[in-house]
Amino acid sequence: MMDCDSIARWYRWLEYLGFGRALERRREAFLGDVADARRVLALGDGDGRALVALRKAMSASATAVTYIDYVDISGKMLELARARAGTDVIAYHCDNALTCPLPDSEYDLIVTHFFLDCFEEKYLELLAARVARAAAPRARWVISEFRRSGWLVRCLYLFFRVTTGLCTARLVDHHPVLTGYGFRLLRSESTWCGLLASELWLRENPDRASCILE
Ligand SMILES: C[S@@+](CC[C@H](N)C(=O)[O-])C[C@H]1O[C@@H](n2cnc3c(N)ncnc32)[C@H](O)[C@@H]1O
Repeated sequence: MMDCDSIARWYRWLEYLGFGRALERRREAFLGDVADARRVLALGDGDGRALVALRKAMSASATAVTYIDYVDISGKMLELARARAGTDVIAYHCDNALTCPLPDSEYDLIVTHFFLDCFEEKYLELLAARVARAAAPRARWVISEFRRSGWLVRCLYLFFRVTTGLCTARLVDHHPVLTGYGFRLLRSESTWCGLLASELWLRENPDRASCILE
């Protein structure tokens, strides 16, 4: 399992050093499309910068009284997130996204930024199955991800292996997995020659997901 406690405080600066503001732009790409969400599940959400941006977008939306469940396995990441984004509408859970309790058919927005790449195929399947079960009909799923393997992604996996104990060694394509659980890709944007992508998915076919889960 990945343990980001030791790098949590430096994570933001390491990111800026490697990518400038490019990852932040990916995280914020579709915020305007989902600002009306009411129940949000943010998995592996890290140090809270994405939460702050989400809250800002939502506060500009007329409909929003939003409740957000934040789940991250790193206590240090969670502390940073809580200090940044506050506690009024966000419940913080220091837990494993693969095993934590989740309600059925509850969330109309799921958020995962640079998180799916932490998982090997069988765990990605498990995660998608859990998200599909927790998602309300027509829930949206906002994803930021690396979309192309190459030396930079290999270096990142090596860095995370050394600093956090991450066992995953290669990028798994999440598209067929999400499609298999009844999600459809609505929009996507990429930068850095296709390396970095932002995606907006819609849960369209709940029956399909539950068939696979049985
Ligand atoms: C690469 S970081 C991305 C953090 C943040 N989403 C971002 O965009 O900066 C991965 C995050 O996922 C968390 N994480 C890794 N495995 C997890 C798991 N099984 N359950 C919950 N969180 C996990 C880590 O603690 C870390 O905060």
